Parts: sequence; structure tokens; C-alpha cells
Amino acid sequence: MSPLSVVNPFRSVGGVGNPKGVEPTLMVLFGATGDLAKRKIIPSIANLAQNGLLPSAFALLCVGRTDQTDDAYRAELKSTLREFAHGVPVEVIDALLRNVFFVRCPPDDPNSVRVLAERMVGIDRDRGTRGNRLFYLSTPPSAFFPILELLGRVRTQPGANPDRASYRVILEKPFGRDLETAIDLNRRLLDVFREHEIYRIDHYLGKETVQNVLVLRFANSIFEPLWNHRYIDHVQISVAETLGVEGRGGYYEESGALRDMVQNHILQLLCLVAMEPPAALDPESIRDERRKVLRSIRPILRDDVDLFAVRGQYGPGSIGGKRVPGYREEPSVKPNSRTETYAAVRFDIDNWRWAGVPFYLRTGKRLPKKVSEVAIVFRDIPHRLFDAQGPTELDANVLSLRIQPDEGIALKFGTKVPGFDMRVRPVKMDFQYGAAFGVAPPEAYERLLLDAMLGDPTLFIRGDIAEDAWRLVMPIVDVWANSTPEGFPNYESGSFGPAAADEMLERDGYSWRRF
Ligand SMILES: NC(=O)c1ccc[n+]([C@@H]2O[C@H](COP(=O)([O-])OP(=O)(O)OC[C@H]3O[C@@H](n4cnc5c(N)ncnc54)[C@H](OP(=O)(O)O)[C@@H]3O)[C@@H](O)[C@H]2O)c1
Repeated sequence: MSPLSVVNPFRSVGGVGNPKGVEPTLMVLFGATGDLAKRKIIPSIANLAQNGLLPSAFALLCVGRTDQTDDAYRAELKSTLREFAHGVPVEVIDALLRNVFFVRCPPDDPNSVRVLAERMVGIDRDRGTRGNRLFYLSTPPSAFFPILELLGRVRTQPGANPDRASYRVILEKPFGRDLETAIDLNRRLLDVFREHEIYRIDHYLGKETVQNVLVLRFANSIFEPLWNHRYIDHVQISVAETLGVEGRGGYYEESGALRDMVQNHILQLLCLVAMEPPAALDPESIRDERRKVLRSIRPILRDDVDLFAVRGQYGPGSIGGKRVPGYREEPSVKPNSRTETYAAVRFDIDNWRWAGVPFYLRTGKRLPKKVSEVAIVFRDIPHRLFDAQGPTELDANVLSLRIQPDEGIALKFGTKVPGFDMRVRPVKMDFQYGAAFGVAPPEAYERLLLDAMLGDPTLFIRGDIAEDAWRLVMPIVDVWANSTPEGFPNYESGSFGPAAADEMLERDGYSWRRF
């Protein structure tokens, strides 16, 4: 019996399998023994299987540098999935595991070209995956070039990339460590893949509430008329974490908050908030509009970096009543490290819609609360009518889009305090995703993996967008790399970040939102 004629083993209970119509796919995962693969990528595949979203012909070929049999790897993966894919029934996990394979292919071993190609062709034959490949590079970036070189050579092997079959690649972040390396990586990618075959991941874009920014703006008539410099005073985008570096000190020392969060996730959020309505919902129309935003952002001059950007590093302190060490005491961190764990930046968008509206972005580790939100702060009312009646607390209206946790949207507005006086106080109108829909949104990785299998790159970063985002942060990267930060560590764990970040907003007459 042909594998395609069997009942879809990944059909959801009582549902129709593969409603999105994903083509038969062989996913080839490099870095399959790593943390991200085990905690996020493979559990997301298990969730897709449970929800009946995989095609009946789906196989996962995990690639490593040390030898392991399929059975040994499956046994290890089974216990990993029990831990990280809770809620997925054992029958679904077993059905998935029957389609999981392991192959040893060090990218620099000349035999790997033949070994990988033969294994893929064999799986096509046994599992009916029809030559469609989705490679996923979940390795340290230093391995990207050798793996791309390998994939370029594999592509020319007999049966490895049949006519009309797809040959796609997903790349984990970080996409380069500066503009030059990002350009180089784009060039190497384009030696092997065409742009429409490349999926640069930014898992923030896979979050339901991030996608909802577009729905909020373009599926409602009340917001968009206000969405411009006439009504909006300024915008604050915050990604605050309570966690420190959690054993990833080595990675973080090479990265820092600006590279790790601002260059990618936060700038992409800014693009969604600030973009013009796309002509259509197709991937390129949306990505073109996102790119236009980046190209309208006023470049920060090197001499102005101190005015428009602030860096910080956490010292010891306490969070939730628990003492935590400072960044420099974390494992694999240099005792005199200059790496920033906090970054705040002001960007201005020089276009018709946003002239004069500053966008303040901040991110930090070891802040008092885990919150990601976009706050649209509206202009003050032109005349304070109620001041004459006594004390009023008339704050500006704020529309806050909460990305995590407690995903939702809240609008702050003034209301009358009950009683005989005309007293005004701000209150909040609150929409919470969980309460309204009663279902948990899918994991970002599930959405992104499914989109990549469907060939939809909307929520991925196009090459030119990655480069433009780097271009914007490069002056800050350069100035920070070539100057010694003052007073590091300059904020206590559990505080809201360095005083200089508060001062940056105070100079403009604002203050950061407290969550
Ligand atoms: N972990 C996270 O939370 C997280 C979050 C966002 C993004 N990322 C990104 O995801 C990627 C993987 O991160 P990770 O935390 O999973 O790393 P990890 O735990 O260190 O795992 C790295 C994996 O890459 C493989 N590898 C290492 N060097 C290689 C080389 N030269 N050639 C081929 N394979 C090699 C290792 O396989 P072997 O078994 O062969 O050694 C291992 O499976 C990185 O780019 C990281 O920046 C991770």
C-alpha cells in the first residue's frame, strides 16, 4: 500500500486531517540535539500533529554530528516530548516517532553530501514525502555557512531536489551579528536558495497578539482614523523580562540586549504598529509595507547615540522576594563584562503619518515584571474643562496591546468618580484573549512551522528587511562597542532599569509606563 493512501496518522481526534492542505514534507532539522529543538521545535511539530495539521506524508530527519540509531534517538525524543509536549496523547507521539529518523552528517565531512542526499531520497521512497524539503538550521550561527555549503552540494545530488518539489530553509536567529555579517549571510543563502525559499525566523511575529496588531488596525473602523500624528503623542514598546541569562551567559556575552531584542523583535513590532495598510494580504505586500517603515526611520547619528539610546547592565537585587545575582556573577560571563542587558532607544519616523511622534523602545532582563506591550499614548485634550471643579487625575488615553502575558488589549480613559462632585479618574476597558475565546493561542513556533510548510513567508523576515534593521542599529552597536559604559552594573535586579533611561524620556517631557 502506498504511504499516501493510508489514513492520515496525524488526523486530529474526530477532525479532518491536514485542513490547510500542507504538501507532503520531509523536514530536516540541523541542531536536533540542541535545547531549542527539544524544548520548542519538535514539541511544536507534535502539537501540529495532534491538531491534525500535518500532511499524512510527513517525516522528520534529525541531523547531528555523532552517530545514533533511529531507535535510540526516538527513545530519547519520546521522553523529551513527554516533558515538553504535554497534552499530546501518546498515540500521536508514537505515530510521529515512527516518522522520525536520525542521521550523522557533520557539515564539514565530505561524505555528508552523499549520506544526507541518500537518506532523504530513501525517506521519500518509504514515506511518500515527494522530494519536498524543509531544512531547519537550529545550530549556532557559526555552523550556518558550512551547513549552507552542504545543502548547496546536496541540492545537485540525484533525487535530492526533484522538479516541482520545494527546497526551503528556516534559519534561527540571530541573523548576523552586524550589518556586514547579515549581508554576507544573505549572499551565502542566495548561493543555494532563492529568496522565496528562505524563511528567517523571528518568533515574535508568530505570536497571535502580534498578528492581532494588524487585525486591530485594519479590521476596525474606529482606530485607524486616530492612528497618526494628529492624535497620537508617542508610542512606547516594552519587552521586559524578570529572567536573567539562565545559563546562556556565553551566548548573551556575544549578543546583548540591542542585538538580541531590539534589532529584530522590537523593530518588527514597531513596523506592524507604524506600517501603512497593505494593498493586499499577500506576503510581499505586507513585507513591502514593513520595509517602508524601516526606510522611513531617521538614522541615529553616531554623535547623537548618547541622546537617543541608553544601555544598562543588571547588578544583584531581588525579584519576587528572591535574591538574584548580578549579570557579572552569572556563569560564562566575564567579571568585567561590558555587555548590556538593558537597552532603550528613541526612533523617529520621518513620514507623513508619524512626523513628530517619537517611538520609544526598551527591553531589559531582571526587570520587576515580565511584560511585552505596545502602548499607544494619545495626545492630551486641548482644554481641561474639569480642572475648575477640583482635583482631577486626567491622564492621556492609552491603548495598550499586551503581547505577553495575559494577552489582550486595554484602553485607558477618564471617567467620573461616583458622587456629587465632578471628579475624574482614569479607568481601563480591558479585553483579555483567554477570557474572550477560552482557548490558548498556538505556540509561535507552531504557526511559523506550518506557514513555512505551506510556503507562506508573511511572518518571516525578508533579506532586505533584516539588513535595513541592522542598518538602523549599527551606529549604536558601533558607539557602544568603542566606548566604556559608565557605572556598569547600573541598575539593580528587580528595578525598572537604569536612571539614564528615565532621564531620556524626562527630557522629552514623558515617563516610561510602569506595569
Ligand atoms: N535555546 C533558545 O531558547 C533559543 C532561543 C532563540 C533562538 N535560539 C537559536 O537557536 C539556535 C540553537 O540554539 P540552542 O539553544 O538549541 O543551541 P544548543 O543547545 O547549543 O544546540 C546547538 C545544536 O547545534 C548543533 N551544532 C553545534 N555546532 C554545530 C556545527 N558546527 N555543525 C552542525 N551542528 C552543530 C549541536 O549538535 P551536535 O549534537 O552535533 O553537537 C546542537 O544540536 C541558535 O542559533 C540560537 O541562537 C535559541
